[in-house]
Amino acid sequence: MARILSILDPTAIPQAVDALRRGEAVAVPTETVYGLAADATNPAGVAAIYEAKGRPSFNPLIAHVSDLEMAKAHVSFPPLAERLAAAFWPGALTLVLPLSPTGRIHPLATAGLPTAAVRMPEGFARDLIAAFGAPLAAPSANRSGRVSPTSARHVDEDLGDRIGLILDGGRCRIGVESTIVAVEDGGLRLLRPGGIPAEAIEAVAGLAIERPALQSGAAVIAPGMLASHYAPDAAVRLNAREVRPGETVITFGGVVLPGEEQARAVMDLSPSGDLREAAANLFEFLKRADAPGAGAIAVAPIPAHGLGEAINDRLARAAAPRD
Ligand code: TXA
Ligand code: MG
Repeated sequence: MARILSILDPTAIPQAVDALRRGEAVAVPTETVYGLAADATNPAGVAAIYEAKGRPSFNPLIAHVSDLEMAKAHVSFPPLAERLAAAFWPGALTLVLPLSPTGRIHPLATAGLPTAAVRMPEGFARDLIAAFGAPLAAPSANRSGRVSPTSARHVDEDLGDRIGLILDGGRCRIGVESTIVAVEDGGLRLLRPGGIPAEAIEAVAGLAIERPALQSGAAVIAPGMLASHYAPDAAVRLNAREVRPGETVITFGGVVLPGEEQARAVMDLSPSGDLREAAANLFEFLKRADAPGAGAIAVAPIPAHGLGEAINDRLARAAAPRD
């Protein structure tokens, strides 16, 4: 069983660094979701991530860095990427950039692509990477296909029997994964909406972000695009305008749906209608609604602007047909 260690423990960073040097995968809190981190330059470390997650090995991973210098040792930065990093790092923006010839991110972490996804996280995760001295590959710390974890307890439920160490930093501030943007030929392509609203990125870039249509069965560019990626066990019904008997209801902004008295439970993502609060609660609520033996989940309409784009994206995946 995994040991759970508070990030306030003074030995947290040295213990994690030791495990990472041994090529192990360690669960680490970030401002978005908990990551399952390992040395991005060590094939044994990257393999440990895939093994624990049960993740298909064609999925490339995000390489997390502690500073711009570390990022530039592995990927090349066109001027537009420099501007975005200056505005949003550390933070919930992941940039997909060409590998530099001297880069050491292992091909297992990039799935052999000529590009790598890089992000500088805030706080403890950044301190850990600085102490380790090399990029950490870190997908969300859940079993493949499951909802991303926003607390150490979520990680433990999903991976506790598969990893050795979980660092506990409490609840994640943002609660949805980073926004992933590919920087190409002076333009930007949105690969995954996330914790930084696309509008905020467009404002800094001074140009519109291209949004490829989200299609199930499309070629895997970012496997976050695989339809059924955030799958609760219960069936999920979106844009519900009424409640059917026995459903668990996830609502927003204090909205009361007709038939709510027949619901098994009602949870409001943000009674005051704050999309940031809603994002921070989303995965926790999906997990609670998905308790064993619970009925179907009905979700009220959520606004589509700002963080609403990421929330609706994750909900669409949760509701997508499974195989
Ligand atoms: O907030 C986050 O981004 C979290 C925390 C832990 O930092 N990490 C995360 O990683 O969500 P993961 O592995 O669950 O998501 C990585 C996404 C995948 O959809 C992957 O396909 C995409 O990044 N990706 C990675 N490298 C890529 C590349 N070279 N080109 C396109 N997409 C890439
Ligand atoms: Mg994930």
